[in-house]
Amino acid sequence: MGLRRFLIIFAILASFVVAMVTCTKVEKKDSRGLAYAGSETCIKCHKSIGDSYIHNAHFNASRVLSKPSSIDSLNLPEGTFLFNDHTKVGVEKREPGLYQIAYVDGKNRKEEHIDMVFGAGISAYTFAFWYGNKLMQMPLNYLTKEHQWVNSPGFPTDQIYFGRPIISRCMECHSSYVDKKIIQSDNFNIEEEFIKGSLIAGIDCERCHGPAAKHVEFHEENPLVKKANYMVSYKSLALNRRIDMCGVCHSGTALQTLNSTFSFKPGDTLKTLPQYNNYTGEDADVHGKQKQLLEASLCYKIGKAECISCHDVHSGAKLSPEIYSQKCISCHQDVQHNKIAKNNQVLLTKNCIDCHMPIKESKAIGFQMSNSKEKIPYKLRTHRIAVYEKVLNGGLLSLH
Ligand code: HEC
Ligand code: HEC
Ligand code: HEC
Ligand code: HEC
Ligand code: HEC
Ligand code: HEC
Ligand code: HEC
Repeated sequence: MGLRRFLIIFAILASFVVAMVTCTKVEKKDSRGLAYAGSETCIKCHKSIGDSYIHNAHFNASRVLSKPSSIDSLNLPEGTFLFNDHTKVGVEKREPGLYQIAYVDGKNRKEEHIDMVFGAGISAYTFAFWYGNKLMQMPLNYLTKEHQWVNSPGFPTDQIYFGRPIISRCMECHSSYVDKKIIQSDNFNIEEEFIKGSLIAGIDCERCHGPAAKHVEFHEENPLVKKANYMVSYKSLALNRRIDMCGVCHSGTALQTLNSTFSFKPGDTLKTLPQYNNYTGEDADVHGKQKQLLEASLCYKIGKAECISCHDVHSGAKLSPEIYSQKCISCHQDVQHNKIAKNNQVLLTKNCIDCHMPIKESKAIGFQMSNSKEKIPYKLRTHRIAVYEKVLNGGLLSLH
């Protein structure tokens, strides 16, 4: 074998080896496909956003709790929920994690490990366990402000229930991706099974910014370029497209969508989906219809106030009413409040929102308390910014 030939063969072999090594070094594939890079990649170049984002409600909108448990990070206490003298659910910490356990006359009838949590815990957590490839909702929710274990909303009030599946619709709003299989059950019901390995819990960077593998590749190869390539600029989108990017998940849970919303990208429109646009009343839905409510406000119709006028989506900080009020004042410098009694004038600069975005109780949802028929309401602020009659009558003012 001539030296030349040897060198060629050597070169080919060597390039194979290099290819093999780089291939095995390639990070684990994103279940959404090659167009996606995954959040860990983003954080390398966008460190400060990444640092604050881990405290954000979107990032924590759902979490997987694999054994041995990471439940401690939630800091949840053990507890019990009494349906009646014979029936109760216990929440107990065990070696591999937190369990919900059905007790009938003191006997352990069923126990499940908490495999997944829904909600960042601003007001509540919902829990789930894997039953084969189905994800099932646990009997109890936890309320973070009241520090109470309560019956899950919509569950039977007189018996323990482990039978409600978490549907993909929850996942579409609370996670970044999950692949599903539709199966036809015996009684002609459609049931869903998830492909466990495909689940990306929490709402990650690319859920809002769209697939970004090309963006990453470009900027890795061109570290000196400081202007974003292969990335939609949110600010350059038309106003209604910017609202739609939030509205895909902030339009209430009652909507039925034909296709999953996982593939919705910035720049896409909800206009072609009539169910997103036929808003009629002002009632806050279970999971607030912030898009529709804001769109019904003059601040949006005339003022073009949009979600990011008031919210920093990457931050985890909770803002005070005073800071929100500054955002109102930035557009409303000199409002005449002639009808407000003098003793309420102090409030005027400090808290616009209690009067103009009052807290409302959801009519659809409430949390049944232990050993009681009473329900703790789910409260949200309405995003229909307006003058409310109740305020004039003094009803809301008595809050202060
Ligand atoms: C190798 C570095 C690098 C990586 C990795 C990276 N980016 Fe960027 N990105 C940049 C640079 C440079 C800019 C332009 C300067 C800036 O806005 O920070 C940018 C800008 C952006 C912008 C603003 C676009 C605009 O015009 O408003 C977004 C959004 C963005 N990146 C999202 C992402 C996401 C999502 C990921 C992860 C999938 C990611 N980036 C990963 C380098 C990177
Ligand atoms: C993929 C679905 C999804 C998208 C897209 C989305 N959100 Fe959310 N958002 C949620 C969910 C789910 C929660 C509730 C999180 C929790 O508390 O568990 C939430 C919570 C919030 C909150 C309350 C928590 C906080 O951090 O103060 C604000 C404000 C918010 N979203 C604003 C926005 C804005 C603005 C946009 C558009 C730029 C947007 N969201 C896009 C799903 C989404
Ligand atoms: C809930 C939707 C949402 C999620 C999730 C999200 N972003 Fe953003 N991002 C936005 C919006 C909206 C803007 C425009 C905000 C503005 O300009 O005020 C933005 C702007 C940006 C920008 C450009 C402006 C800036 O502040 O530098 C970068 C870079 C960026 N995002 C990166 C990321 C990264 C990295 C992640 C994940 C750690 C992420 N985003 C997660 C909605 C989101
Ligand atoms: C259309 C999108 C959407 C769907 C579908 C949805 N949610 Fe939500 N969820 C939200 C938003 C937005 C919030 C934030 C507050 C609000 O507007 O209600 C939220 C809040 C929550 C909270 C309270 C979080 C906290 O931090 O206090 C829990 C728990 C929750 N959702 C669980 C679920 C479960 C379980 C399902 C499925 C049965 C589900 N959600 C379906 C959008 C959705
Ligand atoms: C981006 C600018 C902007 C922001 C931010 C904004 N508004 Fe407005 N708002 C407007 C415009 C423009 C109008 C219509 C003209 C008017 O009534 O002043 C309006 C109308 C109103 C009205 C009269 C509504 C009606 O139906 O008669 C109230 C009340 C109001 N805004 C309160 C608020 C409060 C409270 C906030 C903060 C939570 C706020 N606005 C934030 C621009 C804005
Ligand atoms: C004029 C200011 C303003 C605008 C515009 C605005 N919000 Fe809010 N938002 C608020 C205030 C104030 C709160 C209450 C915060 C608190 O109580 O800590 C809030 C709370 C929320 C919450 C928490 C749940 C709730 O309803 O209490 C979500 C989710 C939310 N906003 C989403 C959105 C989305 C999505 C948009 C755009 C469609 C939007 N917001 C536009 C001021 C605004
Ligand atoms: C104590 C309750 C209360 C507080 C606090 C309050 N408002 Fe009002 N606001 C009202 C009432 C009631 C009206 C209608 C009657 C009137 O004009 O006094 C009104 C009217 C308005 C209007 C419409 C008036 C017009 O000129 O068209 C705007 C805009 C407005 N408020 C903005 C604000 C802003 C911004 C803040 C915070 C800086 C604020 N309000 C604080 C109760 C309140």
